[in-house]
Amino acid sequence: MMIHIPQVLDAAAVAHCRQVMQRAEWADGRITAGHQSAQVKNNMQMPEGSSAHRELGKLVMAGLDRSPLFMSAALPLHVFPPLFNRYDPGMSFGSHVDNSIRTNPFDGRRIRTDLSATLFISEPDEYDGGELIVEDTYGEHAVKLPAGDMILYPANSLHRVQPISRGSRIASFFWIQSMVRDDTKRALLFDLDMSIVRLNADVSGHPSVVNLTSTYHNLLRLWTEV
Ligand code: NI
Repeated sequence: MMIHIPQVLDAAAVAHCRQVMQRAEWADGRITAGHQSAQVKNNMQMPEGSSAHRELGKLVMAGLDRSPLFMSAALPLHVFPPLFNRYDPGMSFGSHVDNSIRTNPFDGRRIRTDLSATLFISEPDEYDGGELIVEDTYGEHAVKLPAGDMILYPANSLHRVQPISRGSRIASFFWIQSMVRDDTKRALLFDLDMSIVRLNADVSGHPSVVNLTSTYHNLLRLWTEV
């Protein structure tokens, strides 16, 4: 399941990010890549633990906390501290799958990567190329979103970033360990949750809302691992 989460960062937060990034130091993106992905990765990254990285990471985390859509879609247990990357002309990231286990650099905790997230910080018209291509059983999906918007996709999918031919593509990327590991179960819960919200909005106080909400929580109780 791929889910577009609009406006994780508002215009002011995006502008602030960009300001900090202009002054920040950048390093070779291979510092966080696994063995296979290091061979196809060509981009720049903000070093983990730098003051700019910590500040912007908190900004993204605060945006996630304010997003009911993210909470419902990801059912997050642990969120890996957001990383930030930049692709300049000629840079790209070839087809790869993300590492299944990541160690949080700040607390040493291991996170299973159930979901991958890319939060776009550049506007789509600022660069050519740079689409995130995600492969699933339905084929390939090209993603290029407005600044502040995020795409959530299963971390077990092959994906790549197309070469940049003009401008710079800046984004934040990170992983989530979900309380519900299985993508199919998580998708069912998300669909049920969204249906309850719509039903409640269309027919406020409909008695079935209580039953459906009960079913939602009972399924969540059955399927969560915390
Ligand atoms: Ni990746």
